[in-house]
Amino acid sequence: MLKLNNISYSYPNGTPALCEVNLTIGQGVKCAVLGSNGAGKSSLFTLLLGLIKPLKGEYHLDDQPVEYNKRALLALRRRIGIVFQDPDHQLFTSSVYEEVAFGLSNLGYPVTEVRQRVEETLRLLHLEELQQRPPHLLSFGQKKRVVIAAIIAMNPDAMVFDEPLSGLDPESAQMVTRIFEELHQQGKTLIVSTHNVDFAWSWAQQIILMKAGQIEANGRPEEILTNTELMKSCKLRQPVLVDLYQRIQPQLSSGHYPRSVDELSQLITAAL
Ligand SMILES: Nc1ncnc2c1ncn2[C@@H]1O[C@H](COP(=O)(O)OP(=O)(O)O)[C@@H](O)[C@H]1O
Ligand SMILES: [Mg+2]
Repeated sequence: MLKLNNISYSYPNGTPALCEVNLTIGQGVKCAVLGSNGAGKSSLFTLLLGLIKPLKGEYHLDDQPVEYNKRALLALRRRIGIVFQDPDHQLFTSSVYEEVAFGLSNLGYPVTEVRQRVEETLRLLHLEELQQRPPHLLSFGQKKRVVIAAIIAMNPDAMVFDEPLSGLDPESAQMVTRIFEELHQQGKTLIVSTHNVDFAWSWAQQIILMKAGQIEANGRPEEILTNTELMKSCKLRQPVLVDLYQRIQPQLSSGHYPRSVDELSQLITAAL
């Protein structure tokens, strides 16, 4: 669905942010982007949204080169939605209901369909009781859910989430992961940056590891998150399940990495 060919970008003040990035992300894939602070994750996302234009290289969406005129960018933003790290950057109406309805009305949906979609999405994110509240007075986790609702309501093919789990309590984080699963079931492409390697391990199908504006590695979780040296060189630790499995593996009969605590528990039980 998305293809980046040899893309480089520096900010107007000269700071290099992306350096010869090559990347393909297929439709319907659950993709986690990992990398320490300043690695270029947010810059990559703003580029995917067409908010910054590559200085070098090409960006293709469904085999068509992305164009940067107003009409083409509007079309791009209907296909790809983003949830920024800080919800305050995206909240600007006076009620949760309006916040979710705003984008839809802008896309020109008829009033009855707007209402139906807003109500559906508010239900999905457990926001019905908050719908008349002003978004700026909500808690961080609630704000985050409102922003996610506003994007989901517009039904884009791909959704980009910049560190969606940071700052959330375990219950809200779990709710967000459940929503990711639901979106995945609907065939959406999900691109999520995170510092949470355990989440990436149990959730993602594709891992993109970034370092100093470059793609350090790109592949399946089993290829990347199990590579101790690679993870260390990107200042990341290994997922707990990977670490544990590597330690007890000599005593186990099965040869595959567990992706959940349940799977690990089964491996151990079978070996006892
Ligand atoms: N608006 C900006 N202007 C100038 N430099 C920026 C801007 N945003 C990010 N940078 C720089 O670009 C590099 C990549 O940053 P960023 O994409 O935010 O990384 P990450 O999201 O992985 O923490 C860093 O060196 C950062 O300081
Ligand atoms: Mg960032």
